[in-house]
Amino acid sequence: MSLKDVLWFDPRRIFIDGEWRNAAGGQTIDVENPSTGEVIGAIARGSSADVDAAVRAAQKAMDGEWGRMTATERGRILMKMSAIVLERADDLAMIEALDVGKPLHQSKNDSRALARYLEFYAGAADKLFGTTIPYQNGFTVYTLREPHGVAGIIIPWNYPMQILGRGVGAALAAGNACVLKPAEDASLSSLAFAEIAREAGVPAGAVNVVTGLGTEAGAVLSEHPGIHHISFTGSVGTGMRIQAAAARNVVPVTLELGGKSPHIVFDDCDLDKAMPTLVGACMQNAGQTCSAASRVLVQRGVYEEVKRRMAEIYRGLEAGPAVGSHALGPLVSRKQKQLVSSFIDIGRKELTVAAEGVIRDDASDAGNYVPPVLFADVSPDHKLAQEEIFGPVQVLIPFEDEDEALKIANGTEYGLVAGVWTKDGGRQMRMARKLEVGQVFINNYGAGGGIELPFGGVGKSGHGREKGFEALYGFTRVKTVTASHG
Ligand code: NAI
Ligand code: MG
Repeated sequence: MSLKDVLWFDPRRIFIDGEWRNAAGGQTIDVENPSTGEVIGAIARGSSADVDAAVRAAQKAMDGEWGRMTATERGRILMKMSAIVLERADDLAMIEALDVGKPLHQSKNDSRALARYLEFYAGAADKLFGTTIPYQNGFTVYTLREPHGVAGIIIPWNYPMQILGRGVGAALAAGNACVLKPAEDASLSSLAFAEIAREAGVPAGAVNVVTGLGTEAGAVLSEHPGIHHISFTGSVGTGMRIQAAAARNVVPVTLELGGKSPHIVFDDCDLDKAMPTLVGACMQNAGQTCSAASRVLVQRGVYEEVKRRMAEIYRGLEAGPAVGSHALGPLVSRKQKQLVSSFIDIGRKELTVAAEGVIRDDASDAGNYVPPVLFADVSPDHKLAQEEIFGPVQVLIPFEDEDEALKIANGTEYGLVAGVWTKDGGRQMRMARKLEVGQVFINNYGAGGGIELPFGGVGKSGHGREKGFEALYGFTRVKTVTASHG
């Protein structure tokens, strides 16, 4: 299967003001297939002039047809986009498999999730209410929820369709116009999304997609004085730069910066239920998931059994070409492979390997494959138990009791998600209260999932909430109107 078979638009152009254009600088960036290392196409390398044109187009949309639409009309357009995404779900999944190296069964899930985000926000668009506030006699006071205006949305390469869905979907529902900057390693599905927006009749300028490098197009977008809100998902370092850029224009930012999320497994839990999730919640997308459960904290009474059963699952894990739909595909880029391999090398020198999976024989040497590796008996302060690896690597950490589990779980700079596995209801509630994270799963774990569920972090995992209804509050500002009756 080649890219040409599934693309129905020219990926070397950018989408501004409702039309496809060549980037001002005329340069392109190669698109590589991570499964084979082959160059399979090219995208435009957008620069300052393109970002500027996109921001101006978005402002024009706010002042024009898009800004005048009712919430119901915006919802209908989002619903239409959702329907087209579903019609194109298989093509979108194949595009993502070829561009990002995501196994087909996972990229199909991503295209369905994109449709679902658009559907959810379509329904929510005209249910976003203000409040009336009791005040002094002779006054009526109410609040309006207004869009910020032009939203800059910078997304990473790991779940392009899901992350653009939750960002652009919520931003549009709330009435903003968007400039989307996808990651240079994974831009094709965002361009497909632009074409779908065009087909659905989104007014010119409400959705703009500028591809390019983070340090060029991304940096210019985050610094642009015409942007009123920035939503970013990606690394801590880039998140800090974006927050600093936003500070210069005094605009709000939502940052989702990944984590080092723990599963916390108590002696009394239902191990049969937990086992596949303990591994799957990290191996999904080969560990390149912000909410990957990369630490597995296990109470001493079941530690040996969990280690043995996880090792058994690991030995059956295979990494292979994305279109083969194996448990794992390759990593997105050579850079990511080097980064993850350097963690694995440290682990092999300093830690105990409990088990590892295999790279299949049909996986090209030029692809970005790494084997899944499980390390056992890891000290909570070891580098591999502290830093985000963003690859198929988990560490097993034993603990004695609830207090120690909490200390270890809360003992990193991050705080995105935690999973708690126990049948004890009181303990479930205590843990949920005391875990310093944005989301707690009790006897389940939803890495990346849950369109309806507010999602975001504490600490270096970021701030602000994506997904669910909560995201709509982030994409709006409140205006208070105080009316005197006299
Ligand atoms: P990154 O944070 O540099 O890239 C994410 C997005 O930001 C891309 O669209 C990129 O073009 C853009 N960008 C880069 N520099 C920018 C700048 N100066 N101004 C504005 N935009 C900029 O992440 P990268 O280098 O691709 O991955 C490195 C590590 O980041 C990963 O190993 C992982 O630990 C973490 N990460 C976390 C993600 C999450 O889901 N929270 C997603 C991707 C990466
Ligand atoms: Mg690619």
